[in-house]
This record gives sequence, C-alpha cells and structure tokens, in this order.
Amino acid sequence: MNEAARAAKTQDFVYVPKAAEIAREAGTRLREYFAQGVETEYKGDVDLVTVADRTVEKLIRTRLSETFPEHGIYGEEGTRERLEGEFRWYVDPLDGTTNFAHGFPQFCVSIGLEHRPAGTKPELDGTLAAAVIYDPMRDELFTAERGRGATLNGKPMRVSRIGQLAEALLATGFPSRKRHASPNIHFYQEFTLRSHGVRRAGSAALDLAYVACGRLEAFWEFNLNPWDTAAGILLVEEAGGRVTDFAGAHFKMKSDEILASNGLIHDELVELFEDMFAGRDLTPILTPQEFAKARAVRQGNEGARDQGNK
Ligand code: IPD
Ligand code: CA
Ligand code: CA
Repeated sequence: MNEAARAAKTQDFVYVPKAAEIAREAGTRLREYFAQGVETEYKGDVDLVTVADRTVEKLIRTRLSETFPEHGIYGEEGTRERLEGEFRWYVDPLDGTTNFAHGFPQFCVSIGLEHRPAGTKPELDGTLAAAVIYDPMRDELFTAERGRGATLNGKPMRVSRIGQLAEALLATGFPSRKRHASPNIHFYQEFTLRSHGVRRAGSAALDLAYVACGRLEAFWEFNLNPWDTAAGILLVEEAGGRVTDFAGAHFKMKSDEILASNGLIHDELVELFEDMFAGRDLTPILTPQEFAKARAVRQGNEGARDQGNK
C-alpha cells in the first residue's frame, strides 16, 4: 500500500477518534499528577502503584462506559466490566509507573480493543481491533485499527527497514515480581553484544509503539499482561511488523513471552532465542572477579613502570 492509500484508510478509523480523546484526557491528568508529585505504594516486591494509576483508570473506565456502553473493560488496577460482551478494552492507565514515581518522564496511557465475536470461548483470543497509546510528556499519539493502518500524530507510520540484528536498536523490560525467576538478564547481555544496543526505558507499551514507528527494530519481554501489550501489538502489526512468542509462533494474549519486530530481523531473533534456550552460542564476557584481577595486574604494571621512570 502506498503512502496516499494508507493515509486515506486511516481517515476511516471507527473506534480510534473517541478512544484517542479519552487517552488524551487521561494523559493530561497523568501530566498534572507528574508535575505535582505523588506518593508511592507497593503492590508487591518492587511493583509500585500511585493515586494516578487508580484515578486515571477510573476516569478511562467512566469515559469508555459512557461512549461504548456495551463494551467490556479489563484494566490493570482491577476494572472487570461486561467481560461477556463482543468487545473488550484492555486498559493500562499508566504504563511506566516506576518511571512516573521517580520523576523519569517515560510513561503512557495504553488502550487496546479486542473483538470477541459471539461464541468465542473465554480461554481463546478474539482479534485486536483498535489501539491507542498516548505519551503525554511528548504529546505523541500512536493509533491503529485492524486493516486500516497505524498513525503517529495523525500521520501514517511504518516499522523500520533495517534488516540485520547487528544494525538494530532493541528494547526489553524486566518483571517487578519474582525477579529472581526471570532469565532475562542473560538475553539482555547477549542481545546487547550483538546489536547497536538494548534500551530498558520502563514502558512496554511505548517500547511497542517505538517498534511500530521505526525508532526500534525489536522489543521482547517475559511475563507481560494483556493491558501492557494489546494496543502495542496492533500498532506493530498495522505498521508492517510482526509479533510472536520467542519461538516465532502465534502470540496469544495470555502468553508469557512477546517478541515484536519490524519483521525483517524476526527470524534472526527467533534463532538466537532458540540457541540461547539450548545453551548454545553465548558470547563469553569477563566476570567482575576476572575483571578485578586483570585490573590489579594492569595497575601493578603501571605502578612498576612509574617507579622505573623516577
Ligand atoms: C511495566 C512496564 C515495564 C515492564 C514491566 C511492566 P507498569 O508496567 O511496562 O516496562 O518492564 O514488566 O509491568 O507496571 O508500569 O504498568
Ligand atoms: Ca503496564
Ligand atoms: Ca500500569
């Protein structure tokens, strides 16, 4: 599809205009809370929550219910409404709470719509139909609808054209619960050594939006939830990218693994995951102890040279 055809299609968005209005209102509230500063509570381990998460979820729930009274809502802060319906909104009112609580300006509102035709079994996925991610600090609005393309601030967006991992910029994230059970630090290391770098910016939804608009070539993470990923997945797919699990198989909403990319480096990434899970092909790096020993030897040599020069 050329640029003009894509632009024409994005003008036909059905759900996005209202959802974008709601996300903008929610983002404005987040920006106000961010400016004034908020207290932080712990949901568990290092899983933080603030008054902003709760108040903004309530706001989004109210607005979605007014606008789409038949639609269900499934929100991170506990909203579970009309889940038997044909449409369901996955809502993360504040993706990037840890950043938000520390005054680090990388967070967003993420709202994704799933279409679940009558008869869809509760354990099965429907189809992602619409997506809105809003970054209130940069005033960036990412949107998509199934079959109608994806936009950034109203302009059609596409994934990047980089075709090799060695030239790619990547992103990942780490869980805030059961941190010792995650092997992701190993993947972080290996992918860092094989690419231009791996960013850990703290908002999975924005990471996905950045894959969709070509700022990143790929993103992966373990143990995310549908409210983190629903909107971002559709953005990536509609922008021409690919989303699977780490084995390259169809992504399921309840999957513990997400791999999203521009499509061009996807197979290379899947192969690397396979090798790493099989314990093959890891690049050796110095341990801190080996480094300290080498440093001591270096410093000893320099000391001896300085003595000799006196
Ligand atoms: C978190 C962010 C983070 C990811 C965590 C998520 P929250 O969401 O998306 O980037 O690494 O796994 O839980 O808690 O800030 O909404
Ligand atoms: Ca989240
Ligand atoms: Ca959240």
